[in-house]
Amino acid sequence: MSNKPTQPALSARIQGMPRSNIHLMSALAQQVDDPVSLSWAKPASGTPAHINAAAIEAINAGHCSGYSPGLGLPALREAICAKLKRDNGITADPTEILVTVGAIEGITAALAAVIDPGDEVILPSPNYSTHTEQVRLFSGQPVWVPCIEDESFRLDLDALSRSITGRTRAILFSTPVNPTGAVFSEADLRAVGDLALKHNLVVLIDEAYEYITFDGHRHFSLGSVDAYRDHVISIFTLTKTYAMTGWRLGYLHAPARLIPEINKAHNCNAICAPVVSQYAGLAAINGPQDCVGEFNAKYAAALDKVCGRLDALGDYFAYQRTQGSYCIFPRVLHPAGADSLAFCQRMLAEARVSTTPGCGFGTGGEQHLRITFCCALSDIDRAFDRIEPWIREL
Ligand SMILES: Cc1ncc(COP(=O)(O)O)c(C=O)c1O
Repeated sequence: MSNKPTQPALSARIQGMPRSNIHLMSALAQQVDDPVSLSWAKPASGTPAHINAAAIEAINAGHCSGYSPGLGLPALREAICAKLKRDNGITADPTEILVTVGAIEGITAALAAVIDPGDEVILPSPNYSTHTEQVRLFSGQPVWVPCIEDESFRLDLDALSRSITGRTRAILFSTPVNPTGAVFSEADLRAVGDLALKHNLVVLIDEAYEYITFDGHRHFSLGSVDAYRDHVISIFTLTKTYAMTGWRLGYLHAPARLIPEINKAHNCNAICAPVVSQYAGLAAINGPQDCVGEFNAKYAAALDKVCGRLDALGDYFAYQRTQGSYCIFPRVLHPAGADSLAFCQRMLAEARVSTTPGCGFGTGGEQHLRITFCCALSDIDRAFDRIEPWIREL
């Protein structure tokens, strides 16, 4: 008998990438009767009407049946530059802008341009799990550097500095942070910029939650500081700001010399971002911004609600109050929380509430769970009305 395999082999690289816990929990939730989900980081609100209308208008005008320039519609790139100036303090030229298929494709394309196999990419952790997989996709080596949990998961600058080796090429993180809810301070971000200058590194900053901050915390864009500009790639999205998850539209700002290089990868991934979404994005960025404040008010109320419910369970959960994003990352004090995957699976099966196990978010994530609060207040109450008796009995 021949030992010839019956199926074509898959790449070792892709096989080495674990299945996403977020998708695992969603799949498991489908087997549960009437689950409540606190596991998706997807805004529950719909896209504002004026943005939908602009897309329909562009379709009816026949603007959407071809490709746009790979870098994006010129009018959109101009609008992005005005937005970056207004809201991020970044003085940008359209030659420094690439319109992408959401933030995710922007990060993938940027990493493709920056790292070679075996290069180390530092990930302050707990970190957004997709960032880790994106590094692995290019055969890079993720290097997790834990943040300081007791100080609201702030950056550990000494540990970051110590983790830099001759193979380090980049530092990648989101701020506000998914999953911890930290907003890295301007001073700490400048210190990261200094490390990048000293060691000639690229800092990739996923600014997906740039507008979603609470209690006076403000997001700071490191790309606004001239001294660091050659070392910073700032990645943005319309997903969170305008509840445009499904439109798949984002953009990045990078030094002009990098844009054609990143665009090579973008061309392989996508050719261009969806054209109808680019027209919608133009209306979003140039149109009324009321929705941004309205969404934030909802998230702020939801944060208060989640914290109130967690406070009532202080024997079981310890948490750092979210500064930005719509995620909170409580530590499970109950011994069953030591294995966060088993804990979340059990909570789903027995209490019918879906959360995301912390173990998927890098070093320092185990023993935590990620709760997202971009849902209705009534869902938060329904979830905790189930969690409370369940955990007290555990
Ligand atoms: C930190 C972070 N970056 C990026 C994304 C996805 O962004 P996009 O939809 O623009 O690809 C998410 C979604 O949850 C996120 O939390």
